[in-house]
Amino acid sequence: MSKTVILTGIRANNDLTLGNYFGGILPTVDMARNHAGEYQINMFIPDLHSFTTPIDHTQLYEQTLHNARIFTAAGLPLNNSDIYLYRQSYISAHSELTWILDCFTGFGEMSRMTQFKDKSQHILSQPRMETPPLKPVNGELVWDEDKQIEIENNHIDRVSVGLFNYPVLMAADILLYGAKYIPVGDDQTQHLEFTRNIAERMNNRFGELFDIPEAVKEQHAFFGKDQGLRIMDLLTPTKKMSKSDESGRGVIFLGDNPDEAARKVMGATTDDKAMVRFDRANQPGISNLLEILALLRGVKLNDIAAEFEGKTRYGDFKAVVADAVKNFLVDFQQKLASVDDAVVLAKLEQSERDLTPVANETLLKVQQAVGLRPKA
Ligand code: TYM
Repeated sequence: MSKTVILTGIRANNDLTLGNYFGGILPTVDMARNHAGEYQINMFIPDLHSFTTPIDHTQLYEQTLHNARIFTAAGLPLNNSDIYLYRQSYISAHSELTWILDCFTGFGEMSRMTQFKDKSQHILSQPRMETPPLKPVNGELVWDEDKQIEIENNHIDRVSVGLFNYPVLMAADILLYGAKYIPVGDDQTQHLEFTRNIAERMNNRFGELFDIPEAVKEQHAFFGKDQGLRIMDLLTPTKKMSKSDESGRGVIFLGDNPDEAARKVMGATTDDKAMVRFDRANQPGISNLLEILALLRGVKLNDIAAEFEGKTRYGDFKAVVADAVKNFLVDFQQKLASVDDAVVLAKLEQSERDLTPVANETLLKVQQAVGLRPKA
């Protein structure tokens, strides 16, 4: 019998953050290190998802390889045939299945996705015209209609159909390999639910095409958690720590200078309660720091909360967290520097060769079901 598949992907749209590390990378790497043999691990870079919002395309290819290096530095064993490391765009079945699933996905259900709503609203809230569309004619500035159209197009293009469609590609990523467990942060819950919905919809319509991933609650139980993880921004602890944050001042990037990162922690927003306590609703900043510390030490949140219970000096508490972040980054960056690029590239290419026929087999079943290919 084939092994149960655990699968996750991290986009290559910027340097990765502590949120990506603890939300997606570490749970997968832990499984790969401690349970390889029992499970198949698919860890990939969704390079096609990486430009659903605007990026610098001259950096994309290098950033894709960099993510693979980061997974390796985080401890993903490359010399194990149950572990796959690959790039989404190198296995074309991802794109092909997406198109088919698109045609069974409702415009309304995509419009309700909170990630789409948040990201598109954010883009649309940016100033509409960066520079007035003027051009000099005979020493005078006059309205330039071409320039205006260019600016408008640029503006419209920033909320792309790709951003809208993001969850469908994500569903294809999961369903092609029959993955059962998908370690992701809390922000991806809705996308996982959609994956289950579209899989069920297709199965009801066309017969058993897809294995359905476990429901989110079961996923949490499998990874030993009671809820999804959401590391918050250090300066605005009511919003998610995000790698696409413009200023990055409340974000710990894995490539941050460790001293600089420690300073970011010391500057984290807290509150005026003067009491270290885990209380997300009323003390989001302190609660976030407690959570980060628990993750860095690999212990339960309750234990960390108990250790600091009753402490009143935020500066002392922050110094402990800052030190832990700094030590983590020093250690991680040392590991990253010793990753052998040739080994990483060879693993990527091997996995892409091995998984292409697996993905194509699922795709063919779907193509046959919808009438694109003759039934066997
Ligand atoms: P991406 O690159 O935006 O995020 C990668 C992973 O990091 C998690 N994450 C967080 N977890 C906790 N706290 C945070 N502040 C935080 N920020 C990010 C995300 O939840 C995610 O697990 N859609 C995926 C990429 C993807 C994917 C897939 C994942 C594409 N196809 C198939 C699983 C299966 C994403 O969010 O990427």
